[in-house]
Amino acid sequence: MGGLANIAIDGPAGAGKSTVAKLVAERLSYIYIDTGAMYRAVTLQALMDKIDMNDAINLTRTAETVDLALRVDGGGNTCVFLNGMDVTSQIRSPQVSNNVSLVSRIPGVRRKMTQLQKEMGAGGGVVMEGRDIGTQVLPDAEMKFFLTASVEERARRRCAELMQRGFTETYAEVYEDIARRDDIDSKRTVAPLKPAVDAEVIDCTGMTVEQVVGVIVARVSGRSG
Ligand code: DC
Repeated sequence: MGGLANIAIDGPAGAGKSTVAKLVAERLSYIYIDTGAMYRAVTLQALMDKIDMNDAINLTRTAETVDLALRVDGGGNTCVFLNGMDVTSQIRSPQVSNNVSLVSRIPGVRRKMTQLQKEMGAGGGVVMEGRDIGTQVLPDAEMKFFLTASVEERARRRCAELMQRGFTETYAEVYEDIARRDDIDSKRTVAPLKPAVDAEVIDCTGMTVEQVVGVIVARVSGRSG
């Protein structure tokens, strides 16, 4: 273990985890790692290869053979590279969003991603964001948070975010996608979405990003004295 703490931030889709985790990392000069982007990249590869979303063997093979790299650009944004190609924008497409829960429920896919993520956190000093960071990937993380918010609020946020990126999904479609993903993510047998027993649960409904970041940074600063 390195000298710096690890911070795990988990929670359902659209709770604002990415925005919050990125800002927390920036404030503390930690490295931000978006694990959802890794599952999205594997999903994109599987879609490009026309793999059936129930074909666990080939989905596992995809996860094991894909060349995946996360790089932070000058603006602090994570860029995702798949076999050397920048797929940062493509992994946010509705097609990937609609299939990623099916890919991420496959045990072999999770095994490979978890192994990569553990390696990324081995030196400490990371803010890692996902669904199972506090429970499976970094169970020894010094600080664990679970961010949640109502489905309505999460759908509103996702809608605004998608619109900004130029996608034209309706509120109803986004709401349905989020509710469906919550269902699959929390019911899967391997690493279901749930707060770690030692995580602090923050209900972000009605809170600003700044307020949530403030709570987390205060806790981390308080810990290190
Ligand atoms: O955070 P996101 O919406 O980009 O995540 C995409 C999907 O990946 C989400 O439906 C659940 C899955 N995921 C996961 O199972 N485990 C993680 N650590 C991160 C994401």
